[in-house]
Amino acid sequence: MKIGILISGRGSNMTAIIDAVLSGQIPDSEVVVVISDKTSAQGLEKAQLRDVETLVIEKNGRSRAEHDAEIAAELKKRNVELICLAGYMRLLSKEFVQAFPNRILNIHPSLLPSFKGLNAQEQAIEYGVKVSGCTVHFVDENLDHGAIIAQKTVEVFDDDNAETLSARILEHEHALYIESLAQIVEGRIEIQGRRVLAKKF
Ligand code: GRF
Repeated sequence: MKIGILISGRGSNMTAIIDAVLSGQIPDSEVVVVISDKTSAQGLEKAQLRDVETLVIEKNGRSRAEHDAEIAAELKKRNVELICLAGYMRLLSKEFVQAFPNRILNIHPSLLPSFKGLNAQEQAIEYGVKVSGCTVHFVDENLDHGAIIAQKTVEVFDDDNAETLSARILEHEHALYIESLAQIVEGRIEIQGRRVLAKKF
């Protein structure tokens, strides 16, 4: 399956996905392009080191729909079938989401629907939860809202701060994203409304 990855920053999930494709852990797939909305994204160099094509498509004062249309055109040009958001810090337009139905995935560092949006780990610490984690989900036009594919719980310790909790959640993010992608590529899941279920063979 042809995969495109959208990033805005560090790109550790992106790197984990590219490496899992290269090692065959995500089978029969190729990461054909990494697109960043920021020239400064550190992930760009990591993708280039792995011989993956990179593009920077900045918003430059355009509307969300115009910006997204350019990104969608580049993805379509390369026949991308699956889009992974990996620290992509923008909400996608309705038009973009509708152009790739059930084909856009995101990872979020909390157990959704708790702690949507920015700084989810800090929100979790401040709320005082004892357990948090990460969620891989399909993307719709609402923030951190689409159908949930997989979740992993991570314990919150008394001496955690946003940084230590983020680091511990991040280790699980990579494994969860890779496993979810393998499930999709191998056709092991089916979607029933908001529920993503293991296919019975
Ligand atoms: C991760 O915590 C991810 O869950 C969130 O943004 C962060 C991106 O990190 N959506 P990285 O760029 O993948 O290292």
